[in-house]
Amino acid sequence: MLLPRPDALSLLKTHIKNDRMLAHSLASEAVMRALALHLGQDIEKWGIAGLLHDIDVEITNADPYTHAVVGAKMLEEMGLDADIVDAIRMHNEVATGQERTTLFQHALAAGETITGLITATSLVYPDKKVASVKAKSVTKRMKEKAFAASVNRENILECELIGVSLDEFAALSIAAMVTIADEIGL
Ligand SMILES: [Fe+2]
Repeated sequence: MLLPRPDALSLLKTHIKNDRMLAHSLASEAVMRALALHLGQDIEKWGIAGLLHDIDVEITNADPYTHAVVGAKMLEEMGLDADIVDAIRMHNEVATGQERTTLFQHALAAGETITGLITATSLVYPDKKVASVKAKSVTKRMKEKAFAASVNRENILECELIGVSLDEFAALSIAAMVTIADEIGL
């Protein structure tokens, strides 16, 4: 079953109270929809995966060994499509102990992670606007390990495994986040 988007959003809001996490979920959704469009994949499915991928983050307290697995199980029990559940589970390799292999898995891991780097890059601009961010600034920040140190660069580089160069990925993701800038406070 594919949850209608309004239902997915209200489900998200019952489990995530933190505004920063809600913004991260919405940003991930926007990036996933843009990636799906770019790669000729299912836009609704990829969007729902982005929106709900961290549904358990407050339940698990972001524990690296249970985060994503708990959420995937919850969504599976609700009857959400198996490939969405799988991509969500696999976005945390620490918990699953398995390496990502599919297009959808790589896309979600890369897509949700680049939102963190783009957000951090936006926040050092004088106007703190994602619209001010250039793709080049994001690729430059990729190499500065101390900048937004918690953002996993390897996850972002999984874009190359789905045939999207880092430059292209950064540009596409910024553009996607710009479309919802007001909603995510950027
Ligand atoms: Fe996330």
